[in-house]
Amino acid sequence: MSSEISLTRDPAHLRQGSNIGQPLTRRDGVLKVTGRARYAADNHPPGMLYAVLATSSIARGRVAFLNVAAAKAHPGVVEVMTPANRPPLADDPDAKAHPFMFRLDLLQNDGVRYAQQTIAVVIAQTLEAATEGAALLAPRYDVLPPRIGLDAGEPFVPPAVGVGNPASERHGDVEAALGHAAHRVEATYETPLQYHNAMEPHAIVAAWDGDILSIDTPTQGLAMAQGRLAGLLGMPPDRIHIRSPFLGGGFGSKGLISGPQILGVLAARLVGRPVKLVLRRDQMYGPVGHRSASRQRLRLGVAADGTLTAIDHHARIASSSFDDFYEPAANASHSLYASAAIATSHDAVRVDTGTPLFMRAPGEATGSLALESAIDEAAHACGMDPLAFRLRNYADIEPMTGKPFSSKALRECYTQGAERFGWARRPLAPRQMRDEAGFLVGWGMGTATFPALMFAAEARAVLRRDGSGVMETGAHDMGQGAWTALAQIAGDALGLDVDAVTFQAGTSDLPDAGIAGGSAHTATAGMAIHNAGAAVIAKLAALATTDRRSPLFGADNAGVTARNGRLFRRDDDGRSESYGDILARAGLAEVEARGNGAADPAAQSTYAMHAHGAVYAEVKVDPDLGQIRVSRLVGAFAAGRIINPRMVRSQLLGGMIWGVSFTLHEEAVMDRRSGRTLNANLAEYHVPVNADVPSLDVVTVDEHDPHVNALGIKGVGEIGVTGSAGAVANAVWHATGVRPRHFPIRLDHLLTPH
Ligand code: MOS
Repeated sequence: MSSEISLTRDPAHLRQGSNIGQPLTRRDGVLKVTGRARYAADNHPPGMLYAVLATSSIARGRVAFLNVAAAKAHPGVVEVMTPANRPPLADDPDAKAHPFMFRLDLLQNDGVRYAQQTIAVVIAQTLEAATEGAALLAPRYDVLPPRIGLDAGEPFVPPAVGVGNPASERHGDVEAALGHAAHRVEATYETPLQYHNAMEPHAIVAAWDGDILSIDTPTQGLAMAQGRLAGLLGMPPDRIHIRSPFLGGGFGSKGLISGPQILGVLAARLVGRPVKLVLRRDQMYGPVGHRSASRQRLRLGVAADGTLTAIDHHARIASSSFDDFYEPAANASHSLYASAAIATSHDAVRVDTGTPLFMRAPGEATGSLALESAIDEAAHACGMDPLAFRLRNYADIEPMTGKPFSSKALRECYTQGAERFGWARRPLAPRQMRDEAGFLVGWGMGTATFPALMFAAEARAVLRRDGSGVMETGAHDMGQGAWTALAQIAGDALGLDVDAVTFQAGTSDLPDAGIAGGSAHTATAGMAIHNAGAAVIAKLAALATTDRRSPLFGADNAGVTARNGRLFRRDDDGRSESYGDILARAGLAEVEARGNGAADPAAQSTYAMHAHGAVYAEVKVDPDLGQIRVSRLVGAFAAGRIINPRMVRSQLLGGMIWGVSFTLHEEAVMDRRSGRTLNANLAEYHVPVNADVPSLDVVTVDEHDPHVNALGIKGVGEIGVTGSAGAVANAVWHATGVRPRHFPIRLDHLLTPH
């Protein structure tokens, strides 16, 4: 990374010699705002051709005819790749060796299983020629009626949901508890099909040099992408070099390499030239994942004193006709509220869409919106304030498993957020507040939760005789600030200032940093960095403590500590030696070690590990037109150790905006007859713009977690959307007295309650 960027320092942390905790600005910020950051599609290797996808306008059936001759005759068109001439693959793209290997459409036959599926790839001298060639293909189809929507196919119970959880789980007797309850809430909530819509489309520049493949493409999972390509192409992974220094957002859609990206590689193979392939925005609505619609039924039982006695949460979701990702929406009810009886279950339908994929808090975003709405309904049924109701039902242990929490500062989140928001002044009944313009004003809240996950990562650390350090891991910065936060961890791990460390990330040639997903990247890659640093320091310490010429001679390795480029005796008797002196005396230019990051299975089986938060929302609703504006959003979050408060705040702000978006904006509208998305563009697929984003306030609540990992990191990437979506919905109820159960909330829902 460029070293010319000035970083913001917190003097208190500097005095302690710690990079962790400093609010550094993002290391790639200047490169991005000056246009010097090179995204995948910015690459133009010599001799490069342009590939354009021809995609299906039907959702189910087969391609009966393509006018390949017309496309090939078009000036500038070099080749048309169809099932007839697509280079051979070593693996069937429909084979599935493990749950996170998704079936892909790589022109393996003439079948069509969703709209916008690739049916041919046109390769030409220019983007324009390729685009025109694709139009000349003029496909004809044999069409079958598509199955679209949650009632379109036979429901079935998936064998597993999410990361391998059973589809149904229960503890206690929900039916008996509901039977005895003083208050019962039963409600059904519907959430729409959504698309990730990262700003940067999926793009690839692929170049073959003999049997070496070089790729520029955005990915949240370099090693997984490399492994998937190696399997499909039948070649050793180390001959595939993937560069992914910058992502213009991912939100899960770049977690697994997609079919179109691999078609770019095959196109380059076919023509023997480098090829660039960039998805058009509408082509993102099909082959690169989405969030399924959901229909969720909540039944809550509450005793006369406001104690929850039963939570029953059922979710219907959809998956594609040919693969099996299911969003585990009901599992949000496992851990949030104490209840003697909890049951969660899922069923699914197979529909003619692309396969859904993890997207911005998969499960928790969808499920917590329904749960938090139902909790609000239950508080109202008991005549209780929603915060008091949540505190009455605070879970001191994880109710579904009985495990203690590794840490849980949710109570502090509730109180600090409430104070900041002014919650105590909230009238209990809805429709009580108006602003000076006569708009109805409502206040609502939601609880935020996301599991503290870890995957597996490796890092390589080097200390050099000149006193500098190197840390290498194939980490991914999709805009979240990973390069900055991980470099800070690297600085501490090596006992150096962050500016003395060269942090290398973003290519598949580096050790595998694990997927940047599940809000687990900082913890996973961070622990690999931490352990690689500890290992290299231990090697250095061994050189010093076993050498009579060192002032540290005789201290064992555990008896030294590293900071500011020196090793000190831990008993702090004043003796120390610089890294440079130790290496020089040993006659070494550098010393190197590796380390791994992974979850601790013993801690995981003992403790429930989640980040938490509380979000408070104020909305204003036009009493005549039903128009909704979010005017204030306050979120208080506890997520273990905060590596960089500036990046974390930014992550949480973004997540809270996703919450606004979930509740009020995002919806892919499907045409049930054609199976096409009617609003497959950023004009009609609504996401919040600046004018939609209210005053936002983020509080990070101190939380020390000794169990999640040695660094105490829980992750903040996705939790912001949870809680926020429900808070906005509950505020709309409080403003209007109309309970939103269909999302996104539209103004006609408020004018004609249904
Ligand atoms: Mo996240 S949906 O795991 O990128």
